[in-house]
Amino acid sequence: MSNTEWPDNFNLDAPADVTQRIKTFIQDELAKLKEFDQKRAQWVKQNLPASYQMTYIFHEHTQRVADDVKNTVLHMGLGETVADNMYWAMLPHDIGKRRLPLHIWDTIEKPENDIKKLRRSHTELGIQIVEEQLGDIEHPFIDLMKDIMLNHHEQQDGGGFLGKSGDQLSTPVRLACIVESFDGYSIARPHFGDRDISVEGVLKRMRDEKGADIYDMELFEAFAATKLAQA
Ligand SMILES: [Fe+2]
Ligand SMILES: [Fe+2]
Repeated sequence: MSNTEWPDNFNLDAPADVTQRIKTFIQDELAKLKEFDQKRAQWVKQNLPASYQMTYIFHEHTQRVADDVKNTVLHMGLGETVADNMYWAMLPHDIGKRRLPLHIWDTIEKPENDIKKLRRSHTELGIQIVEEQLGDIEHPFIDLMKDIMLNHHEQQDGGGFLGKSGDQLSTPVRLACIVESFDGYSIARPHFGDRDISVEGVLKRMRDEKGADIYDMELFEAFAATKLAQA
């Protein structure tokens, strides 16, 4: 999917047999991601100092970002169909993480580039999981879900994981990148020091330090307005 349209011409109600399989797939994968988080917690307990706090919990992150895309879409007045499609498509965006080793996720220092690169390959690993399990199904929702899964760590200037630039990213993906980034900056991490992680603080950092090189600023301001209206 490389269009600039919002997904308003299909939904996850029909055809029922296919969409039920898709929803079951997403729920099963989220349960597996939760199990992976539990294994991570175990690994952290055994390998890192007791002072290390595992704050970035993947299955909780996926729920927050799915809620954020849904709320932004509704705040923009795009309607329930788009909101629902975006919500379900965002939920499984990080499922590929469970196929990567436990030790790469929790680090006391800021991670090295090779670790970062390995982490980011969760996008392509997620696509593999979708193809293995739903490869026989054709439904526009699957295209939307795969588009977000593969491209949610891209940047407008092409400096993201796959080097795609803004004009190669769909509108749903551009919103996903913003919401993803906000959540990442909002969760305290050991290497963040005393950085301001309030809603206002993170929005300011994203606007001033990252800006249009990284994000679609029109969508960013719609997202920011949504978050501030909730605060
Ligand atoms: Fe991700
Ligand atoms: Fe994510």
